[in-house]
Amino acid sequence: MGTKEQLLALFENNKGVYFSGEDIAEKFSISRTAVWKSVKTLRSEGYNIDAVRNKGYSLSVETDILSVQGIQKYLKPVCSCVEINVLPVVHSTNTLVREKAAAGAPEGYFAIANNQTNGRGRSGRSFFSPADTGIYMSLLLRPPCYSSRQAMKLTTMAAAAACEAIEAVSGEPAQIKWVNDIYIAGKKVGGILTEAAFGLEDGLLEYAVLGIGINVSPPKGGFPDGLQNIAGTIFCDAQSDGKNRLAAEFLNQFMMYYTRSNTDDYVDSYRSRSLVVGKEITITFSGYQKKAVALDIDTDCRLIVKYEDGRTEPLSFGEISVKLS
Ligand code: BTN
Repeated sequence: MGTKEQLLALFENNKGVYFSGEDIAEKFSISRTAVWKSVKTLRSEGYNIDAVRNKGYSLSVETDILSVQGIQKYLKPVCSCVEINVLPVVHSTNTLVREKAAAGAPEGYFAIANNQTNGRGRSGRSFFSPADTGIYMSLLLRPPCYSSRQAMKLTTMAAAAACEAIEAVSGEPAQIKWVNDIYIAGKKVGGILTEAAFGLEDGLLEYAVLGIGINVSPPKGGFPDGLQNIAGTIFCDAQSDGKNRLAAEFLNQFMMYYTRSNTDDYVDSYRSRSLVVGKEITITFSGYQKKAVALDIDTDCRLIVKYEDGRTEPLSFGEISVKLS
């Protein structure tokens, strides 16, 4: 770790606490000039570092800038294989992590961005990913011997973990619109896009890239037309550590489920947050629409529906989309 990273870790773990230049220099065995240079660099990156004569330097408690150090301080041991890569801006974290996966990156490679210029959503849609107000993250997974049925579960596992993380940091109840849209108070606050590669010979999963986007606080210019009535945020304004903590909580929850021997542990959490069960819905598949009632979600996270003619069917996700009628 370089001096700047060491200093950031010290500040992130002690927000609002003052450290004299002398103490920092001694702690890291560097000169006071080197301390000052690192403070200057951190300031240029947006960190609000106060300097007071006879007290020293302190990182403002209001700070909410994504960083490896800011996320790491909340991570539990279950995340030991996660390698965090923070990017101020990227085209798409999913595209980036897929490229890394194809080049042989190991399980746990994790990219998180403050801004995406080409954020991608399900069914070829784009995902609005403005700077400073959301988190856009992708995790590479290489579970051994996963069938396509098991692979499908990763995405619903991520939805349950994302809801639990949102609830832990915001205190607001989060719900899931089958299959993977995260809602708070009737507004979509997050979405998940899982992309995978399967072996041609054995049909087993080679790797999966789990992409999650969460709207943390309102974007500066508001949501664009078309999203204004649909999209929401988990906070009304920026929060101290909102983004770093949310990312860490997601990783903690997801990795807990993922590493458990019983991979169905998360299903109750997923089911209990369903926004559609018990409601009338419209199902769209290949441009074809059908009305139904959502009856339940089974252990494979398939949506059990009852059509108007009385027939029931378990729906697997894929190209099916569901709208509340
Ligand atoms: C959806 O709601 O349709 C899914 C949205 C998934 C967005 C996330 S943001 C991080 C990752 N990178 C992407 O380009 N997309 C996913």
